[in-house]
Amino acid sequence: MSPPKKLGILLSGRGSNFEAIADSIQSGRLAAEIAIVISNRADAAGLDSARRRGLNAVLIPSKGRVREEHDAEVVSALQQAGVDLVCLAGYMRLLSPAFVRAFPHRILNIHPSLLPAFAGVDAHKQAIEYGVKVSGCTVHFVDEHLDQGPIILQKIVPVLESDDDHSLAARILEQEHIAYSEAIGMVLSGEYEVQGRRVVRRQRSVEAR
Ligand code: GRF
Repeated sequence: MSPPKKLGILLSGRGSNFEAIADSIQSGRLAAEIAIVISNRADAAGLDSARRRGLNAVLIPSKGRVREEHDAEVVSALQQAGVDLVCLAGYMRLLSPAFVRAFPHRILNIHPSLLPAFAGVDAHKQAIEYGVKVSGCTVHFVDEHLDQGPIILQKIVPVLESDDDHSLAARILEQEHIAYSEAIGMVLSGEYEVQGRRVVRRQRSVEAR
């Protein structure tokens, strides 16, 4: 059997998506290993939970630093950890082109809306104010543009008339926690192709089944 693929998780805050990924691995639902967790903020709760789980948790502060220099340090930490796939989990930084080039189609992000609707910050508030009847979450490959890379999967969540941005965020978050591990599993399986903007699942050959 080949060794489990290595994930690098980047986060800036609460880290509930990181926790969900770690739980999926622990329970055997996702065949992978978290090789490193990196935060750009010392006060990120996700960094503490990574330490409590005994993971390799590293702080690389970004405040006051030139983006390219900070990114180069993060890329080098990921490479040293032998990471196959980088998962942004509430990482509040736009990646520089050099970072994206270092891991072509190997960086994933999760966003709490059905992209391309409501990119950027305050996605839930944007959805409520626009009056959409459904929203959800999107896992996508990362390119140099904010929330714009090819879409891997989306989950739909109804927007209720009683919703405010907090209640909507909580229901979308439940789906995020399912979607991210599913998307990682799919990407690690290699059974897909990126055709322009479209991520297309490859049919498994009869022998492989
Ligand atoms: C999530 O809503 C995610 O979609 C967005 O940032 C939030 C991070 O939450 N990119 P958490 O830190 O994973 O709890």
